[in-house]
Amino acid sequence: MNIYDIFMCPLEKFFLNSMRKHLIYEAGGKVLEIGAGTGVNFEYYNMDAISDITVVDKQISSAARKKASDKMQLVEADAAKLPFEDNTFDTVVETLLLCSIDELDKPLSEIHRVLKPDGVFIHIDHGLPEGKGLKKIVNGFAPVWRSMSRSCRINKTYKPLLEKAGFDTSDELSSGRGIFYGGISRKK
Ligand SMILES: C[S@@+](CC[C@H](N)C(=O)[O-])C[C@H]1O[C@@H](n2cnc3c(N)ncnc32)[C@H](O)[C@@H]1O
Repeated sequence: MNIYDIFMCPLEKFFLNSMRKHLIYEAGGKVLEIGAGTGVNFEYYNMDAISDITVVDKQISSAARKKASDKMQLVEADAAKLPFEDNTFDTVVETLLLCSIDELDKPLSEIHRVLKPDGVFIHIDHGLPEGKGLKKIVNGFAPVWRSMSRSCRINKTYKPLLEKAGFDTSDELSSGRGIFYGGISRKK
């Protein structure tokens, strides 16, 4: 286990796990998951509601390959250039992907493009928390965390980015006083 995993363990246990349980279960129809990592979300899907899952990562991990079910197809691609037609998926899922990408305009517009007009975008990321004190701590710790995790930014604010990309963010959730931000967004 590396230092990133050691830090993530309590966060996963106390905050992320319940958000995953609650949100990933809502995925249905034709599903796209982007940035699956080790396939941590796979166990939370309600497979009875799903026809198939396309799993995209810039590099599919061996752990994800092992966990993948026969309803899943694994595709190596960049979130900024998804190899799918417009309006293909009923659900797009990403968890802790957006916090590992610097420039989000293109990935978010790609997610919007491949999602059907009545589709849902299920997402969970690290967000900049509520409260002046916590904000200060998280902003101070952000460069350290980024170098420990190699890519993760913990102090982004997603709501305006999602709104700009054409998503309605009124049905959102946060956990740990906003340290994790997520929800089910629909196309405006
Ligand atoms: C921090 S991990 C998150 C893994 C998992 N979704 C979770 O919730 O723990 C980020 C994942 O996104 C992938 N990733 C990062 N940038 C990407 C990009 N531009 N396109 C596709 N996948 C990307 C990484 O390879 C990694 O597997």
